[in-house]
Amino acid sequence: MEKFVINGGIPLNGEVTVSGAKNAALAIIPAAILCNDVCRIENIPVSISDVRYMISTLKYIGANVRFIDKSTIEIDSRNVNSYMITHDMTKHLRASYYFIGALLGRFGRARVAMPGGCYLGPRPIDQHIKGFEALGATISVEDNAIVEADSVKLFGAPVYLDIVSVGATVNIMLAAARAEGLTIIENAAKEPHIVDLANFLNSMGADIRGAGTDVIKIRGKENLHGCTYTIIPDQIEAGTFMVAAAATRGDVIIKNVIPKHLESISTKLVECGADIEEYDEAVRVSMTGRPGRCNIKTMPHPGFPTDMQPQMAVLLSLADGTSLISESIWSNRFKYTEQLLRMGAKITIDGQIAMIHGVEKLKGAPVKADDLRAGAAMIIAGLCAEGRTEIEDIMHIKRGYENVVEKFGNLGADIKMIYTIDPFDINCVG
Ligand code: EPZ
Repeated sequence: MEKFVINGGIPLNGEVTVSGAKNAALAIIPAAILCNDVCRIENIPVSISDVRYMISTLKYIGANVRFIDKSTIEIDSRNVNSYMITHDMTKHLRASYYFIGALLGRFGRARVAMPGGCYLGPRPIDQHIKGFEALGATISVEDNAIVEADSVKLFGAPVYLDIVSVGATVNIMLAAARAEGLTIIENAAKEPHIVDLANFLNSMGADIRGAGTDVIKIRGKENLHGCTYTIIPDQIEAGTFMVAAAATRGDVIIKNVIPKHLESISTKLVECGADIEEYDEAVRVSMTGRPGRCNIKTMPHPGFPTDMQPQMAVLLSLADGTSLISESIWSNRFKYTEQLLRMGAKITIDGQIAMIHGVEKLKGAPVKADDLRAGAAMIIAGLCAEGRTEIEDIMHIKRGYENVVEKFGNLGADIKMIYTIDPFDINCVG
C-alpha cells in the first residue's frame, strides 16, 4: 500500500509550476476522435491516472497515441473503429462518459458503460441524455449499467439545461460539433475548461461561440481536422498550492497560471489575511500570522469552486474565529471533515453547511484521502500540523495531481511516499 508521510510545521517557500488542467484534458482527449486526423496536445498532465485511463480508452477504440515528451501527446484518430466502451474502461472515472458525446459525433452511435469517479453524492446524467435526445439520438440505459445512443443523423437543436452542469455542457458540445445545423445550449456551464474545449474544437475547424457565457452556440461541421493545441493551466492545482502557501504561513510563487481563473480563490484568501501579487502568468501568495475567518459558498464558475472547498476548510480550521462553508453543488462533500477531526479540527456539519471553529494548531495523525480533493486537503492539513501525518488511499490524489512529492518537496515540505504491507490484509500471503 502506498502512503504519503508528512512531517508538518514547515512554511512552504519557493516556486512551483502548475501542470495542464486535468478537467480540460479529460474533455479534450475524447474530443480528438471527432476528426479523422492527428491532434497534437501540449501541456497535458500525462502522469495523472485520470488522463492515463482516458488515453487507454482511446487506444481501446483504435486510436494511436504517441507520447512526445512529459507533457505532449499526439492522438491519431484515423483508425478509431469501435463505438463500444466497457465497464473495465469506464469504472475508473466520471469523464469516461465524454466518449458518449464524442462517439455520437463521430459515428452517430455509442455504447458506453456507466462512468465511475469520486463519490460526491448522486451523479445523475439526465441532462446529458436530454441534450443527446434533443439532437435526435435515441438513448436507452440498460440496467443502469450501459448507455446506448443511436441516431441516423444528428441535427442541431436548442437545449436548455435545467441545472448548470459541466459534464452535460461538454457532452452536448462534443455531439453537436458535427451535427447538422445550429445547437444552442442555454444555462451552460462557464468553467475555464468549457472555454478550453471550445477553443480546441474551434482549432479543429468547429464553429463554437459564446463559451464562457451561459449561452453557447455550436454550428455543426460535417468534418473536423487535426490541430496542435496547448491546454490551459490547472485552476484547481494552482488554487491548492495557493491555499497550502497561506495555510502554512509561507511565501510561494505559483507559475503557469491564468490569474483571472483564480479570482474567487484569491478573493477569499485576501479576506483571510493573505497577501497576493498577480503577474501575467504567476501569482505570489504569502501569509504572516494566523489566518482570519471567512464564509464560503460554493457555486458554478465564476463562483467559488466546489473543488477547492476541502482545501479551504483546512485553512479555516486554523483561522481565528468561526467560519461557515455552504456546499451547493454536491450533496456529500464533507466526508473528509471526519479526517480533519482526527487532527484536532473543530467542525460541525448540518446538512450542506459546515461550521468551522478555528483552532490554534492541528496535530499529525493517520488519515485517508476519501476522494481527490479530500486528499489534497489532507496534504495541506499534514503540512500545517505538528508532527507526523500518514495519508492512506493516495490513489485518489494521483488521479488529479502530478508529482506531488517533488512539487511540495521543492517548496521545503518534508513529504515522502512510502510503501507498506497492511498486516491485516487477508489477501496478503506469507
Ligand atoms: C465536473 O463534474 C468536474 N469533473 C468536478 O470535478 C466538479 O466538482 C464539478 O464539475 C463541479 O464543478 C470534471 O470536469 C471531469 P456537474 P461533473 O455535471 O461534470 C448535477 C474534481 O475533483 N447534475 O457540473 O460531474 C450533479 O449531481 C471533480 O476534479 C444533474 O443533476 O459535475 C451536481 O449536483 C470532482 N444532472 C451538479 O449537477 C446531470 O445530468 C453539478 O454537476 C448532471 C449533473
